[in-house]
Amino acid sequence: MTEQIPLARPEIGAREEELVLEVLRSGRLSLGPMVERFERAFAGWLGVEDAVAVSSGTAALHLGVRANEWGPGDEVLTSPFSFVASANCLLYEGAKPVFCDVDPVTLNLDPEAAAAAVNERTRGILPVHIFGFPAAMVELEALAAEHGLRLLEDACEALGAVDSEGRRVGSRGNLATFGFYANKQMTTGEGGMIVPSSSQVAERLRGERNQGRAADMGWLDHGGLGFNYRLSDLAAAVGVAQVEKLDAMLADRARVASLYAEGLANVAGVDAPIADRDGELRGWFVYPVRLATGLDRDATIARLAERGVAAKAYLPCIHLFPHLRELGYREGQFPVAEAASAQTLALPFFPAMSESQVSRVCEALAGSLR
Ligand SMILES: Cc1ncc(COP(=O)(O)O)c(C=O)c1O
Repeated sequence: MTEQIPLARPEIGAREEELVLEVLRSGRLSLGPMVERFERAFAGWLGVEDAVAVSSGTAALHLGVRANEWGPGDEVLTSPFSFVASANCLLYEGAKPVFCDVDPVTLNLDPEAAAAAVNERTRGILPVHIFGFPAAMVELEALAAEHGLRLLEDACEALGAVDSEGRRVGSRGNLATFGFYANKQMTTGEGGMIVPSSSQVAERLRGERNQGRAADMGWLDHGGLGFNYRLSDLAAAVGVAQVEKLDAMLADRARVASLYAEGLANVAGVDAPIADRDGELRGWFVYPVRLATGLDRDATIARLAERGVAAKAYLPCIHLFPHLRELGYREGQFPVAEAASAQTLALPFFPAMSESQVSRVCEALAGSLR
């Protein structure tokens, strides 16, 4: 039987087992020392002073929206070409996502489109580093400064990316979020991290993830509204082990990406994603390829499945989901995002992918195009 090649596969080994066992044997499954150890390891790797672990990337975004005090009547500029959580987090707090079209190469929020959408209700910008490519933060920060807007970076797909100023994505001093679902650059199963913009914000985030308890409060004490967005110590143990081998996993992803670039170079009708541009480096998350107009993306995915190769349409535009159409969004409003959305698919992509697996995917794709 032909080997099935999955879309993603996490790298879990002896070190994860060892640290999870350490937590299990300690009896401290929640609010123990492993979460803090994970936060310190992650912040150290990223090169920031502090990081706050939470139960998902979505929880991180929600707390980030609250920390920026975006609420009813406020408009926040963001990308329609993203995973739905980057818009939903605004809706949770009654703020309005105002979508602006994306750059045709990076597929990230286009700073000019964002500038054109600023009005008297605009309070912030929520850029998404989509598919791990750094968003145009220098331009977006300038726009934010000009109009007194707050920033929240959705870096859930962008661990390991480096921006045009040589800084790791998420380390510019803005609030920034990461996600650790099992297909991400590193995983805790479910989990997320938020990089605070100051020590006061960090304190607020830690309180709100823990039912509104300040650090010195007891279990039944609550200083304000909060949530249960805690990460368990078991998940944090996996996170510590993953940070230890993060450089190696990122290097493996980059290796697989360059094998794909070689393998697809001569496949007509398939555009491979760029790895870098003028010093910007992608933090490889998925491997999205774009098919030429006229090729049938969904039929291609179905044919790949018949050949044992998993592939996925990536990504549907957020503004066209029913709950965002209710705000008045329609087809045709963001032509660059919509065209990318119609012709892009993600191929199997994970650190342990072998050269022969990449070759098989490339051959299967070449034979699946119509
Ligand atoms: C761009 C983006 N934002 C937010 C999220 C949400 O992360 P999580 O699934 O951990 O809640 C994801 C995860 O898929 C994502 O890709």
